Amino acid sequence: MLLSHIVPALSLCLPAACAGILGPVYPPPQDLTSDSSRVAAAWKNFTATLDGGLKHNDNSSGLVSQLKDLTFSVGLFSPRDGAAERLQYHHTGPEVANSSHGTNKVDGDSIYRIASVSKLVTVFAGLLELDDSDWDRPLTDIFPELADFVKEKAGNFQPVYDTQWDKITLNAIAGQLGGIPRGGEVDLLSVFASLKASGAEGAESVNPASYGLPPLDENDTALMPPCFGDNRQFCDLVSWPEGEADNAPVFLPWAAPQYANSGYIFLGLAIANLTGKSLDEVYQDTVFDPLGMTSSYTDPVEESDPNYSRTVVAGPPEANYALKGGVSKASGGLLSTTNDLAKLGIAILNSTLLPADQTRKWLKPGSFGADLQYGVGRPWEIYRYVHLGSGVVTDIYTKMGDSGYYGGILAVIPDYDVGFSVLDASSLDTRSASATIAMDLIINAILPALMQQAAIEAQKNYAGTYRSAETNSSITLAVSPPSRPGPGLAVSSWISNGTDLTPALSSVLDSKNARFVPTVLPQGSTGKAAFRTYVPPQEVDTGSLQMLTSQLYALNSFLLVDGVRYGGKDLKMFVFDIEDGRAGSVALEAFRSTLKRV
Ligand SMILES: *[C@@H]1O[C@H](CO)[C@@H](O)[C@H](O)[C@H]1NC(C)=O
Ligand SMILES: *[C@@H]1O[C@H](CO)[C@@H](O)[C@H](O)[C@H]1NC(C)=O
Ligand SMILES: *[C@@H]1O[C@H](CO)[C@@H](O)[C@H](O)[C@H]1NC(C)=O
Ligand SMILES: *[C@@H]1O[C@H](CO)[C@@H](O)[C@H](O)[C@H]1NC(C)=O
Ligand SMILES: *[C@@H]1O[C@H](CO)[C@@H](O)[C@H](O)[C@H]1NC(C)=O
Ligand SMILES: *[C@@H]1O[C@H](CO)[C@@H](O)[C@H](O)[C@H]1NC(C)=O
Ligand SMILES: *[C@@H]1O[C@H](CO)[C@@H](O)[C@H](O)[C@H]1NC(C)=O
Ligand SMILES: *[C@@H]1O[C@H](CO)[C@@H](O)[C@H](O)[C@H]1NC(C)=O
Ligand SMILES: *[C@@H]1O[C@H](CO)[C@@H](O)[C@H](O)[C@H]1NC(C)=O
Repeated sequence: MLLSHIVPALSLCLPAACAGILGPVYPPPQDLTSDSSRVAAAWKNFTATLDGGLKHNDNSSGLVSQLKDLTFSVGLFSPRDGAAERLQYHHTGPEVANSSHGTNKVDGDSIYRIASVSKLVTVFAGLLELDDSDWDRPLTDIFPELADFVKEKAGNFQPVYDTQWDKITLNAIAGQLGGIPRGGEVDLLSVFASLKASGAEGAESVNPASYGLPPLDENDTALMPPCFGDNRQFCDLVSWPEGEADNAPVFLPWAAPQYANSGYIFLGLAIANLTGKSLDEVYQDTVFDPLGMTSSYTDPVEESDPNYSRTVVAGPPEANYALKGGVSKASGGLLSTTNDLAKLGIAILNSTLLPADQTRKWLKPGSFGADLQYGVGRPWEIYRYVHLGSGVVTDIYTKMGDSGYYGGILAVIPDYDVGFSVLDASSLDTRSASATIAMDLIINAILPALMQQAAIEAQKNYAGTYRSAETNSSITLAVSPPSRPGPGLAVSSWISNGTDLTPALSSVLDSKNARFVPTVLPQGSTGKAAFRTYVPPQEVDTGSLQMLTSQLYALNSFLLVDGVRYGGKDLKMFVFDIEDGRAGSVALEAFRSTLKRV
């Protein structure tokens, strides 16, 4: 009789149908750069493809040729392999090559505006500086102007027009869940006015009436928020919160994610208020200085600064490069380099400044996106990469920047302990679309390679036979035996104290396909590593019905992990002793037996 007929928890989980624990399927790879690393090979292939399209006019990759006019820098980083930072690619578009300002050839030390990647630095600084409880404080607690607004409106509060500032916390705005006015919007009234003022050919015909809009007085400053566009000069007269207070919300607080630059302006002001420091000091003291980010700036580099020769100036400086962030600095005003962003990314992945538990908490979504492969955190924009074949999901935590002539992305991939950045510049309208192509090319190049390299290292470090000297016990673990491809470590044979368990794997491990995946790994390369089972998803033909609940256990092993014990220990928990990354023995916890690797 099979155990699965006796134990209810097991019978919920049909043989070969339990799957899916969030997180890595192998320990993160250590070697991203040697000649034998799959990641290095993929990187070589990636850069060769770029070179082909950008330098040798090889049009075979149509996508790459779209990057010709873009100036961009791409770089990898990993706390486990310092040499990964040498995996960089830089391309200088004609505009920057010709620029009479800043650099004419970009490299890892070129200083770009990082646009909204700034938001990531803002949250990071806030996490380091604020108390946990500060994040749950409503904005009315910090900004008296907003409290006054809510008080004034109390008798006649209209949720479609009046923002519920007293319900919006720092966590809400950091997670893009405040529902507050977007900020940084384009106001057609100023567009029409500047078109008219430009006297450009045909400008006269582009006016409010041509869009069926009523005429408005473009000089009536009351029609515009106080700190945006042409109204920037009023920032000092009317405080930012006062100007924003009476502005219709987009959603109710916590209703749906919605990108709000304004939220980050409030967050920056709140951090400055709660710390009693200027935001510049906060960035410098809590992030840039501790991490040695010596080429990162809170304002555009001045021409008199020796580092001006390293800045990337697309278009005339006054058109975009030299604009000071002012109150919007926290949202998009910072500058940095590929090498400095690597320092930031490594510090996040390795919990250098923020404790490890807080880092794990931070690297989680706060909300789904509307797209199944997209989630939103603080300020993470999370892409869910699905590996071809295995269907394994790898979450890529990113923050993208995309504003004016500059953009970029900082991405960290906790499952593989690795990350990358892209920085880009161009005054052309194609900048944003080209930059996202560069980002997709790198994702598609490295994600499969990371999985392959992690599997190769798991093969070397964990696979093989483990044996007991005292009893007739042995177990053989393998990475993707050809007969049963899939992630993690599979059991290919198992004798426990003279009993051959190999034929009974579907009973003991729910499936002969069960895989051991890492659940707790040592901080460094020496210590104990716990693995538990995972069953790769099976293609199930569900017809036209969506079998959401009946496939629940098949797709979500998290419900069942640690569900069956023997004498208080999980039947499916293996603990490896690791030295210099290599397993020397494995403790089969429930079996009370430790087997040495042979
Ligand atoms: C190299 O990249 C191309 C796409 O540009 C891809 O088709 C090919 O599989 C890659 N080769 C390796 C070894 O990664
Ligand atoms: C690539 O495309 C460009 C622009 O369409 C063209 O001028 C060039 O000759 C092409 N190169 C090759 C090798 O086909
Ligand atoms: C990452 O953290 C580990 C453990 O604290 C430490 O030994 C290692 O030096 C760190 N690596 C980097 C690149 O900071
Ligand atoms: C760059 O400068 C060269 C030489 O002055 C000129 O021929 C070329 O058109 C310029 N390119 C751009 C994009 O400005
Ligand atoms: C706004 O001001 C500009 C410059 O002073 C002027 O030319 C324009 O006619 C004014 N617009 C209106 C609608 O008064
Ligand atoms: C923070 O804001 C409150 C309310 O406006 C104000 O009383 C306080 O002085 C501010 N603190 C700092 C350090 O700016
Ligand atoms: C210029 O960059 C160097 C590092 O290359 C740094 O040490 C220096 O502080 C920077 N200068 C300024 C004014 O930030
Ligand atoms: C192995 O089996 C023998 C005989 O049944 C038993 O006495 C012993 O306790 C078992 N040892 C282990 C480690 O399971
Ligand atoms: C160990 O147990 C297996 C499975 O029962 C059996 O086939 C094998 O002969 C045993 N080996 C020894 C040395 O007793």
